[in-house]
Amino acid sequence: MKTLIIVAHPNLEQSKVNRTWMNRLQQEENVMVHNLYSHYPTFEIDVKKEQQLLLEHDRIVFQFPFYWYSSPALLKQWQDLVLTYGWAYGTEGTKLRGKDLMLSISTGGPEASYQAGGYNNFSMSELTKPFQATANLTGMRFLPTFTKQGVRFFTDEQVQESAEELVRHLKLKY
Ligand SMILES: Cc1cc2nc3c(=O)[nH]c(=O)nc-3n(C[C@H](O)[C@H](O)[C@H](O)COP(=O)(O)O)c2cc1C
Repeated sequence: MKTLIIVAHPNLEQSKVNRTWMNRLQQEENVMVHNLYSHYPTFEIDVKKEQQLLLEHDRIVFQFPFYWYSSPALLKQWQDLVLTYGWAYGTEGTKLRGKDLMLSISTGGPEASYQAGGYNNFSMSELTKPFQATANLTGMRFLPTFTKQGVRFFTDEQVQESAEELVRHLKLKY
């Protein structure tokens, strides 16, 4: 099982959580960490290269900080350009079929705010529906999301522990 972690964080220098997760995941065997913003700071994505990377892996993880209830913009650009008709979807577009898709998300807002009545009003499962729909259309298996919430107030120890939890989450059998 080969896993590709596609990281979309526009400001990793100031990141606490996603940077720690990246560094920890880099120590794992059969896991490749792919930093989108460092490869494509001008948003000019090498589509063929990205498609080749996807073909070489069985489990694809989108890792990002939650920005306005979704991913940072470069991951959306990546989806728009890389998941093409006839490749990722459509009658002939079968290249991603049978692969796994997992999300790994950090949020500033606390867990309790992500429910009906909470100040964010909707759950993470509801807010990530476009990713679930994308997995569905491309024939990928959508796996349970790894979410860490209220991360602004995490101590360094909690951040480190969350990285270990993420590694365990990735290794679960689904
Ligand atoms: C432009 C922007 C938009 C954000 N939108 C949200 C949001 O919709 N919901 C939320 O809970 N946190 C939001 N946040 C907070 C980030 O999710 C949080 O800072 C990040 O997950 C921390 O991870 P890091 O330490 O890797 O940077 C936003 C932050 C920024 C800069």
